[in-house]
Amino acid sequence: MDDLSKTQTSEMMYSVRKLSYKYPDGTHALYDISLEVKKGEFIGLLGANGSGKTTLLRAMDKLLKGVEGEIYLAGVDIKTLSPKEIYKKVGLVFQNPDDQLFAPTLFEDVAFGPTNMGFNSKEVKKRVLNALKEVELEGLENKSVHNLSYGQRKRACIAGLLSMGHDILLLDEPTAGLDPMGEYKMMNLLKKLNKESGVTVIMATHSVDLVPVFLDRLYILSKGKFSRGGTPEEVFNAPEDMANIKLRLPHIAELIYKLKHEDKVDFKRIPLTIGEARREILKSLETSLKGG
Ligand SMILES: Nc1ncnc2c1ncn2[C@@H]1O[C@H](COP(=O)(O)OP(=O)(O)OP(=O)(O)O)[C@@H](O)[C@H]1O
Ligand SMILES: [Mg+2]
Repeated sequence: MDDLSKTQTSEMMYSVRKLSYKYPDGTHALYDISLEVKKGEFIGLLGANGSGKTTLLRAMDKLLKGVEGEIYLAGVDIKTLSPKEIYKKVGLVFQNPDDQLFAPTLFEDVAFGPTNMGFNSKEVKKRVLNALKEVELEGLENKSVHNLSYGQRKRACIAGLLSMGHDILLLDEPTAGLDPMGEYKMMNLLKKLNKESGVTVIMATHSVDLVPVFLDRLYILSKGKFSRGGTPEEVFNAPEDMANIKLRLPHIAELIYKLKHEDKVDFKRIPLTIGEARREILKSLETSLKGG
């Protein structure tokens, strides 16, 4: 990540410099965090429970007071931006959907953002129905948000953001609590927004199996500090480091790593996805058949 330019450009969506934060009870949650995110990137903040992911996202959305360091949003110091200016540009989804949903019905909840942005009722309705369709909650418009299941409430929060059409999304564990298919669909939806609409996505997660398939770049948080960063391949090729910070390798990478190091099977690289693993295994089988 050192190769990223330190200069302010319009292509830089977030530039966070030497951020530190202590909660009022004295908990030192972030130490000297610096990160840079370019327009159109899909970035993961990966870390164990309590490592500081939520705190960092909240600081980036200017929801914490007394943060040390600097945060630039598209080149502008967020200290100079009003909550409304940040709200228009950045969408934050909270980790717990119950901190986010508040309107009596699903429709009203998802409509809150676009209504507040000044769209007329016809446009609001269009945006709400589109967003609910994207997260597969269509038909539940009149249901009370309290009566939705946990996974449905998680998706309702995402719909609330989609209806606003932000350039930047900060997502705190968007897939936590979703079933495996729901998790996969959510990541596909985020990837689609990222690739097709150019939305910059920064998501906190501890889901190591999904991460490599979707993300461009990862920052690993441990006890409030960044310990590693880079592409998923770069980050996951050091299993000992991952164990030290209470994370494991993706299952598929762990299997190949053990075959390579404990059973001396000749793998040139450690794949991170099933597709790559399949290719590597076939290659290795071919070589050993020829050799035998
Ligand atoms: N409101 C608060 N007041 C005091 N300490 C807090 C508060 N919120 C979080 N912390 C502490 O700050 C540290 C980082 O917490 P944070 O919620 O950012 O971690 P996280 O990486 O999001 O964890 P998780 O994976 O469990 O969501 C933890 O030690 C936590 O106890
Ligand atoms: Mg959290």
